[in-house]
Amino acid sequence: MQRLKTVETVKQEGKEVLIKGWVNARRNMGKISFLDIRDRWGIVQVVGVPAELDDKSQEELKRIRPEYVVSIKGIVNKRGEKQINKDVPTGSIEILAKEIEVLNESETPPFEIDNEERQAGEELRLKYRYLDLRHERMLKNMQIRDKVMSFTRNWLHDNDFIEIQTPILTKSTPEGARDYLVPSRVHNGKFFALPQSPQQYKQLLMVAGMDRYFQIAPCFRDEDARADRSPGEFYQIDMEMSFMTQEEILDLVEKMFTELIKKHFPEKKMTFDKFPRLNYDDVMKEYGTDKPDLRKDKNDSNELAFAFVINFPLFTEQSEEDHFHGAGDKWAPSHHMFTAPKPEDIHLLDKDPGKVKSLQHDLVLNGWEVGGGSVRIHDPKVQEKIWDLIGFDAKQKKQFAHLIEAFKYGVPPHGGIAPGFDRLVSLLAGEKSIKEVIAFPLTGDVRDPLMESPSDVDKKQLDELGISIKES
Ligand code: AMO
Repeated sequence: MQRLKTVETVKQEGKEVLIKGWVNARRNMGKISFLDIRDRWGIVQVVGVPAELDDKSQEELKRIRPEYVVSIKGIVNKRGEKQINKDVPTGSIEILAKEIEVLNESETPPFEIDNEERQAGEELRLKYRYLDLRHERMLKNMQIRDKVMSFTRNWLHDNDFIEIQTPILTKSTPEGARDYLVPSRVHNGKFFALPQSPQQYKQLLMVAGMDRYFQIAPCFRDEDARADRSPGEFYQIDMEMSFMTQEEILDLVEKMFTELIKKHFPEKKMTFDKFPRLNYDDVMKEYGTDKPDLRKDKNDSNELAFAFVINFPLFTEQSEEDHFHGAGDKWAPSHHMFTAPKPEDIHLLDKDPGKVKSLQHDLVLNGWEVGGGSVRIHDPKVQEKIWDLIGFDAKQKKQFAHLIEAFKYGVPPHGGIAPGFDRLVSLLAGEKSIKEVIAFPLTGDVRDPLMESPSDVDKKQLDELGISIKES
């Protein structure tokens, strides 16, 4: 007999069905037991009446406890009018058990799985993430994530984008955060870096003629955790296009997200049909932040106020947080070093760099920056100029020699954007923290309590890598 999903049983009135899943709850009413059986699709109520069961099934019924994994054969019966539960899709029926088999037992979980009010702390939730993910809300978040992922992929394919995977073992990319380094065994003393984003590769793909590239790209940044920031890794919907103006890029992104919301989140209200294009200076003056929350009702997580911020200054004053250039230099790129200055401001690069505006664009949503991008520099001379201004010496410039070299062979004007996938999903799921939409996130202090990573490694492994650890 074929196993049915719990939700499918509702259409099987009067028939015998087989279901398999976890015991969500058990209630005893005298000799009769009610079991809520849960699978990925929902919950259905099973009634266990000893007189209806063979001896073996009766014994199994006695020992069943929450989170046991069970297989149950039974007859689908309509519930009496008073017993109907309108809150569950299977609330109009119940299954009268005929055969019960325990497939596996479960210890009492370290926390109540479905209790929103008395939720366990982060350490415990992440140590037992596989139990935490059994929570209805977490399942819903994973489903939302999956929907946004598949919609984006399909939409971009339908709009002539090509999905290309760029390397994970790569060279330091200067997005402004610290790199995760991977020591090379073959080349002792040398390191790969995990990509902070595929920025340079996607620009090289434009040189290669792979116009309209995208990738749901894993990015790695050694940053401190925040509600909107994953401390180790996160995903971007990374996009790059050739021969497009900034406005054309923004139109495309606006269209993609509008269609996403219409299709998968019809319950959400969009504050603006046309995402406003706001000037950085105006936004800073009016809201004191470059990621304003433009909702009419700031408490309504079902309201979505998308907007673009443009006309950023090309440079900001350097701070301690800039990790890619020498100390003492004055300017740091506001976005990244490949962002183009506005053509009409190029003449100011020599005279007054602080006044130069750029072709950067940020996508903001409800007070979070959910995407960043720009039209890129495609003139090697301008690129060199930017490096001079951010204080690159000859050695640092040499690190990007491949880009300048590539630009000698017919580089198209190009630009792109990278909406942060996890950030977007948290806002769509109405979650306050990005961790709620990541299956196995790291803790705030950058650990995985489940796998206990990072971990020590064998001395033999370190020797092969030519690494010795200093005692701290
Ligand atoms: P940027 O650094 O602005 O641009 O990143 C783009 C978007 O990625 C998301 N994001 C993060 N999400 C979760 N955790 C983090 N630690 C984190 N850091 C960033 C944000 C952000 O807007 N290469 C450029 C893109 C481009 O120019 O096309 C880049 O990475 O939502």
